[in-house]
Amino acid sequence: MCGIIGYIGGRRACEVIVKGLKRLEYRGYDSAGVVTGDGEGLHIRKGAGRIDPLVSELGLLNMPGNRGIGHTRWATHGVPNEINAHPHTDCSGKIALVHNGIIENYLELREELRKKGHTFKSDTDTEVIAHLIEEELKSSRNFEDAMRRALLRLKGSFALGIVYAGEPDRLYFVRNESPLVLGLGTGENFAASDVPAFLEYTRKAVFLDDGEYAVLTRESYTVKKLKTGEKVEKPVQEIDWTLDMAEKSGYPHFMLKEIYEQPRAIKDAIHGNSDLIPAVAEEIAKYSKVFFVAMGTSYHAALVGKYLFQRLAGKIALVEEASEFRYEAENILDGDSLVIAITQSGETADTLAAMKLAKRKGAKVMAIVNVVGSMATRVADITLYTHAGPEIGVAATKTYTTQLTVLTMLAMELARKLGRMREEELKTLEDEFMNVPQLVESVLSHAGGLEELAESLKDQRDFFYIGRGINVPTALEGALKLKEISYIHAEGLSAGELKHGPLALLEEGVPVVAITPSGRLFDKMVSNIEESKARGAMVVALSDSDELRETADVLVEMPPVNEALTPIVYVVPLQILAYHLAVLRGNDPDKPRNLAKSVTVE
Ligand code: AGP
Repeated sequence: MCGIIGYIGGRRACEVIVKGLKRLEYRGYDSAGVVTGDGEGLHIRKGAGRIDPLVSELGLLNMPGNRGIGHTRWATHGVPNEINAHPHTDCSGKIALVHNGIIENYLELREELRKKGHTFKSDTDTEVIAHLIEEELKSSRNFEDAMRRALLRLKGSFALGIVYAGEPDRLYFVRNESPLVLGLGTGENFAASDVPAFLEYTRKAVFLDDGEYAVLTRESYTVKKLKTGEKVEKPVQEIDWTLDMAEKSGYPHFMLKEIYEQPRAIKDAIHGNSDLIPAVAEEIAKYSKVFFVAMGTSYHAALVGKYLFQRLAGKIALVEEASEFRYEAENILDGDSLVIAITQSGETADTLAAMKLAKRKGAKVMAIVNVVGSMATRVADITLYTHAGPEIGVAATKTYTTQLTVLTMLAMELARKLGRMREEELKTLEDEFMNVPQLVESVLSHAGGLEELAESLKDQRDFFYIGRGINVPTALEGALKLKEISYIHAEGLSAGELKHGPLALLEEGVPVVAITPSGRLFDKMVSNIEESKARGAMVVALSDSDELRETADVLVEMPPVNEALTPIVYVVPLQILAYHLAVLRGNDPDKPRNLAKSVTVE
């Protein structure tokens, strides 16, 4: 929800921190702040708003010192203003810290500390931590000891960056249920919520686990357990993302760049997983109960996964939003259950909670994840990566199509293992599947008309997206994309559901986007299109069939593709349409209001 970046070394810390904050802005962008340290003590500047204007307003690039920590915020406790922006300090001003997460027992701690004479400046849960360390410092051997004792009293989730004026040669970083990764340089070290923040300087990373903290100096890093203070040996991982992957590379927005990266991302997802899929499918086949859990766009991928498992392999699977599953699945999980969590970030709080519940109940847990080394990969027994590369735009695009790619591979292999498809039929499908990157490429190269279409639709208040079968999730995803970045109300639904209520909302000119590939369900979709037209709706049909040229008001021409592969190909124009509508309405599609890329709180 918030982004943290820390630096200690020979460079001007403020420069590294400001760059890092810009790369982390997708995690939150309602306020930001920086603390740096030099021989004179700590220097803090913070304010409400996005990084770019704050850099000049606050002079963030003119701060002294070679060590420091920055924070970009997505508010949970307290409105986004200067006072509530991080860093927060203790009464003495010698301890400054930034936080990503939520402290659940902050009210009782604040009361206790107030009684002991501490004065609080902000409405945040975070400030209590600085005062708690200050209090513990009175009776501790040293700062590290005080910090440990204080942090052991916290309930909730936290990734923290902490700087103490009394120790000019070090920084502290702590992780408990919020992400934190160290970046190792030569004569300099980094810490951040996510790798792209320091990718420009190093690709050597150490991922902290829950309940661990790191002491960083220029020359060294030490990881220890919060509970006991004992040292932990951590593997150093080489990150294979390039800086270019984390930059806009000439595109006006990350979202557009990421949409256009999809052919490459899908290819990488195929090549990165082809060796692993047979063994994983073998494992899936063993379980009689298969559950998919996920949130948002990943939930839509899970829905497609369920259709694929059932249609291709005859494997029954249930799908539930992780936020529901975590509280409802207690009685249905056991050793014969497999829970497949889908999460691009690998740090969505609800999805992680669902995975942990599954583990407690003895189920096998698998994760389909994009972010290497993220929390989900640590909880899961089996991980498959989507290999999409860093996705910075808040709206998921390439991570969705690569999730679908991995799920399709699993379903095809499962079909083979369970003998549900004839080998010949399977081979044909696999050949078509290998051609999906080219199909997506061709959809992208014919996307010009979508901007014009967006222009004609930009003042609409409501949209409906309809589909059937495996493309019900495509309809849901099209609607979610539109809502989150254009702020236009949109509903995605199964076309069959239309006449059970939503049809009452259709009136003259309301856009109905119909996902209508030719095949089994084509005629049924045409009936739903006719019903919508009869109520005055303006139908935009996505189809490979010419038949709709007269029925639909607008036909978005699609290439012919096997039904099982339509979700990957048909979502692409919906992403582009949402993108143009957002831009035409003056919104920043990369940073939609009220949202953040990773939802690390419940
Ligand atoms: C998608 O565009 C959204 N930003 C959001 O729904 C997202 O898919 C959801 O929060 C789940 O995130 P995850 O895949 O990182 O778990």
